[in-house]
Amino acid sequence: MSTNNEAWGSRVGLVLAMAGNAVGLGNFLRFPVQAINNGGGTFIIPYLVCFLLMGLPLLFVEWSMGRFGGARGHHSTPFILDAMDKKRHFWKYLGVFGLFTNIAVAAYYCYIESWALAYAFDSVMNVFGGMTQEEVAAHFQSYVGLGSTEPIVFWILCLALNTWVLSRGLSGGIEMVAKIAMPLLIMFGVLLAIQGLTLEAGEKGAVYDGVFGLNWLWEPDFSTIWKADVWLAAAGQIFFTLSVGMGTIQCYASYLRSRDDIALNAMSAGWMNEFVEVVLGAAVVIPISVGYFGIDKVVEIVQSGGGFGLAFQTLPFLFHKWGEVLSIVAGFSWFGLLFFAGITSSLAMGTPFMGFLQDEFGFNRKKAAWTFGLIILLLGLPTVVFYNEGVFAEYDYWAGTVSLVVFAVAEIIVFSWVFGMEKGWEEINRGADIKVPVIFKFIIKWITPLILLAVFIGSLPGIWDAITFNANSGYLAVEENKPYIIFARLLLMGVYVAICYLVWIAYKRRMKEGRET
Ligand code: PHE
Repeated sequence: MSTNNEAWGSRVGLVLAMAGNAVGLGNFLRFPVQAINNGGGTFIIPYLVCFLLMGLPLLFVEWSMGRFGGARGHHSTPFILDAMDKKRHFWKYLGVFGLFTNIAVAAYYCYIESWALAYAFDSVMNVFGGMTQEEVAAHFQSYVGLGSTEPIVFWILCLALNTWVLSRGLSGGIEMVAKIAMPLLIMFGVLLAIQGLTLEAGEKGAVYDGVFGLNWLWEPDFSTIWKADVWLAAAGQIFFTLSVGMGTIQCYASYLRSRDDIALNAMSAGWMNEFVEVVLGAAVVIPISVGYFGIDKVVEIVQSGGGFGLAFQTLPFLFHKWGEVLSIVAGFSWFGLLFFAGITSSLAMGTPFMGFLQDEFGFNRKKAAWTFGLIILLLGLPTVVFYNEGVFAEYDYWAGTVSLVVFAVAEIIVFSWVFGMEKGWEEINRGADIKVPVIFKFIIKWITPLILLAVFIGSLPGIWDAITFNANSGYLAVEENKPYIIFARLLLMGVYVAICYLVWIAYKRRMKEGRET
């Protein structure tokens, strides 16, 4: 029944697409904010530990699950998990997370992506020239408050562009975009990082050296290192930035051939993401803003202005201290970089559901792409219209934070304990172009599941606060937003249930037609 005979065009294309999937807004927006909020040097050690003991192992696991599923005609996690445990039938409903997360994250992610597109355009038009810091901030407030039609126009443009690329398929669409966007992104990133790191006190209106920001991030601070919050934030960032626990990597890997290398490809894409995150991502926002405001004020801006305080409300103003030409180049590079980072990730989010529709319901690629686009339009609308009422943040919390951990716990149990580590290890190593250190066998079986369980358990109090709107936790800052937030939750739950229903129908059909799952 599957109409899905897609394949990657080339190995370079695959690795760039996978790196493009991982490298996203998370690297340039979320990482600096998490680092700043969690004390800079306090953050970086838990972050690196989580990368090595949780991120890398999950990359191996997800790539091999994907290739395993693809060989059996499955391109999304419900039936990949199902194929890994022949005895139990409930895993597929946990596998629904691997569709749900992508849809729900794409719904709000594409909106930020469209801001980047709009701001890149505005930078070229020199819209921010001559504005004060307050005016730049006010511009953003009015933008997200839908003070003009610009946000809607760019958002729809952005959705249409994503849908169109997706309808062109893996090698003709996604791979092509990755091959253009990734090199440009790295070029823009390097250009801005050089500006950030060479920023000197007394020059271009800067008050401090830009590198102060980097020192602050890289100077390990052991005093607060045992705070659970910092570890949870670090683990959350590793999930988000590597796109693990989402079902996206499994989908991309399901288009590999059964003897294609996994080990080296996974490492290449994973390390490329870390380079872009801790080297480039850390060397733009933090040094530039620290150069003008100093560390304390930067921390204050982030804590009061939320995640987008620096990137959208401050940098366009600071760039203008560099003279007109350089400010236009810098603005275009910064927002262009964000847009490229964003689109290569949002494209990835489209593929699992498309694969599911193609595998189970015989959709062709075009129809699957437009169905996805339409769903994102409908599900994204509340995040656009009720951005200020907290709907956007609610999606980010449930889909972009909690779901990843829940799904990762499920998949590591299936992989290491149900499927079994012996078979799992064989999957990881088949066709491998590098020798995976055997210690990973132990890590994947014991350490990663334990860390994931710890992260899950550690998150429970926060989840409980969110569910109960615990005022003391600061969860619900504005009481009036409650109805909107409840609406957002019901909507997300509805999406989850709807996908379960589709999986159930697909399963029944498979049974009736006597097809293996
Ligand atoms: N890893 C991406 C980022 O850092 C986000 C992402 C989430 C990508 C889910 C694909 C799927 O922004």
